[in-house]
Amino acid sequence: MSAEAKIKALSEELKTHNYNYYVLAQPTISDREFDKKLKELQLLEEAYPQYLQENSPTQQVGGEVTKNFNTVQHSSRMLSLGNTYNKEELIDFDQRVSKLIGGNQFQYTAELKFDGLAIALRYQEGQLIQAITRGDGSRGDDVTANVKTIRAIPHRLKGDFPSILEVRGEIFIHKTAFERMNQERKKNGEQLYANPRNTAAGTIKLQDSSEVAKRPLDGFMYQLIEGNDTHLDHYQSLQKLKSYGLPINKDTVLCDSITEVWDFIELWDKKRKELSFEIDGVVIKVNSRLQQEEMGFTSKFPRWAMSYKFETERQGTTMRGINYQVGRTGAVTPVAILDPVQILGTTVKRASLHNADFIAQLDVRIGDTVFVEKGGEIIPKIVDVDKSSRSSVSQPTLFIKSCPECMSLLERPDGEAVYRCPNSSGCPPQIKGKIEHFIGRKAMDVASLGEGKIDVLYQAGLVQRPLDLYHLNYDNLLGLSKTISEGDDDERIVSFKEKTVENILVGIRESINQPFERLLFALGIRFVGETVAKKIAFHFKTMERIMHATLEELNAVPEIGEVIAQSIKTYFSSEENRLEIDHMKSIGLNLEVEEKALSSNILSNKSFVISGVFTLFSRNELKKLIEDHGGKNVSSISKSTDFIIVGENMGPAKKEKAEKLGIKMLSETEFSAMIED
Ligand code: IVH
Repeated sequence: MSAEAKIKALSEELKTHNYNYYVLAQPTISDREFDKKLKELQLLEEAYPQYLQENSPTQQVGGEVTKNFNTVQHSSRMLSLGNTYNKEELIDFDQRVSKLIGGNQFQYTAELKFDGLAIALRYQEGQLIQAITRGDGSRGDDVTANVKTIRAIPHRLKGDFPSILEVRGEIFIHKTAFERMNQERKKNGEQLYANPRNTAAGTIKLQDSSEVAKRPLDGFMYQLIEGNDTHLDHYQSLQKLKSYGLPINKDTVLCDSITEVWDFIELWDKKRKELSFEIDGVVIKVNSRLQQEEMGFTSKFPRWAMSYKFETERQGTTMRGINYQVGRTGAVTPVAILDPVQILGTTVKRASLHNADFIAQLDVRIGDTVFVEKGGEIIPKIVDVDKSSRSSVSQPTLFIKSCPECMSLLERPDGEAVYRCPNSSGCPPQIKGKIEHFIGRKAMDVASLGEGKIDVLYQAGLVQRPLDLYHLNYDNLLGLSKTISEGDDDERIVSFKEKTVENILVGIRESINQPFERLLFALGIRFVGETVAKKIAFHFKTMERIMHATLEELNAVPEIGEVIAQSIKTYFSSEENRLEIDHMKSIGLNLEVEEKALSSNILSNKSFVISGVFTLFSRNELKKLIEDHGGKNVSSISKSTDFIIVGENMGPAKKEKAEKLGIKMLSETEFSAMIED
């Protein structure tokens, strides 16, 4: 088949799959297969741009289902800011600035500090080509398709934009949209978002950009990184960005002194409640670019900028009762039930009481007036109790003695602050929690089984332990339904229709192929989180060896201490747990690390240097492809380098050196064609 015919055929096929997925809600292939085909089309279109059609599935916004994001290198490190919390610290900052500028005159800009997630946008010839999250500061996720669904972010710049422009800014969600979305999540039995910031971050990482398009994200740009206008002062450069059609917050001001900055802070500390979005402080920047350059950076922060964090708002209300929640590991957490109170524009009805010691220290009692603050967590905190207004008949709070769910006597291990229910195999929230952990995104990743659905399966007696999932069938599931009450006075009915059942079964079946390290994490062994699971899995390679490892052998794994080693040992000393592993074998789950075979030897004896920013692959993917095909990665160019894979923004010095040594340069498409052959 000619390339043109292949592109046409693939486009048609993918469009049909899109239709099945979005319109009929009946996909006939898995997301993974879809992604593979989409990538194939993308590569072909790159190689034969003359056949790229405008309405190709690769060009569609809001209809792309892509699994993992590509990781891309930032053009320069995406730094964060130093924090100040009071006027004195701010004045210290001002004095440091004065000194560094050597007594010369300077101005500040004062800006709102938007509480969302940082994003870097790159425009080429006025066209948005890349949107990258902060990631670890050096490399972030390419979330271009998702960012393209945000109305405030132009796909095309206007005015006299430069040929390359990079700006950075913040993406966030409005308070009302956040609350609406959480209501929706509650209805669907999904976990609630803690705050608008987490919601925005969760949204931008969604795999399905049509889903992103339904959530009204917004954004403001606050920094020019690359383009013609970098000689301008900060404030002017923001105006310039505005003239290109980029969203700039109108409340930014120029200040001649730190006193003026302080006035701005005080003003917005009061007025922030009126804003439709959350801000958590004010950002102060030295306005002159030249002065900024003179001052430079510490290893973490620019010396010319500082954030001022507002104090969080504190409100008084009455504590009406205490709920005790039992988690996956049996830990019992007390939660205060409050008279609803507004804090920073959202309603608060519950607050964390952490554990028995915390309750005793606060001496908080039912009926007390308590003071509540919102931290970054889902549940706000009780920070103080007004004992003066306490009723004379109030009684000290006694922590419950038995499990509120299964009545077992609670235990409190020596040295721990937490009470636990010991009935790990019979206590409903512990059982459900373990199953939920097993199917979690970082474990076996069965996205089609949300929290609400596990509850239904459990109530119906179909799933008592995670592996029971693999014995479910269509007839078991069809028509199951249950009314779920949601604490307050909300109730909803969950019922399984054909489509739901199919999705559940496909999701479970696909999870059989999850790699061993995920399965090890999914077991929910205490202290064995995602990273520890990976370390142990790659060290011992098989479940068999982990099961039989001695304490010393476990302890000898780098970064695995005694507590973790002991916990693993305890887990496998249980007969029940060992039988589960046999059961896993019979299901066909991966009980060994997959040793990767070379895909080919086509690059053997060839050394590669990777340079610049890429769109098709992340740098790590390129490195892996090179190794998978027998090649070698080297970090710097020398005369023994065979190839350089060149992305955007390759440094000029590197380029010159490569040209001088006559090293062959490949684009990522050329490289991809090379290994395809
Ligand atoms: S300037 C190198 N300006 O706050 C300086 N940041 O805590 C880059 N943020 O990473 C940051 N509003 O995500 C800047 N007006 C603003 C901001 C802002 C919110 C975020 C940003 C940054 C974080 C630092």
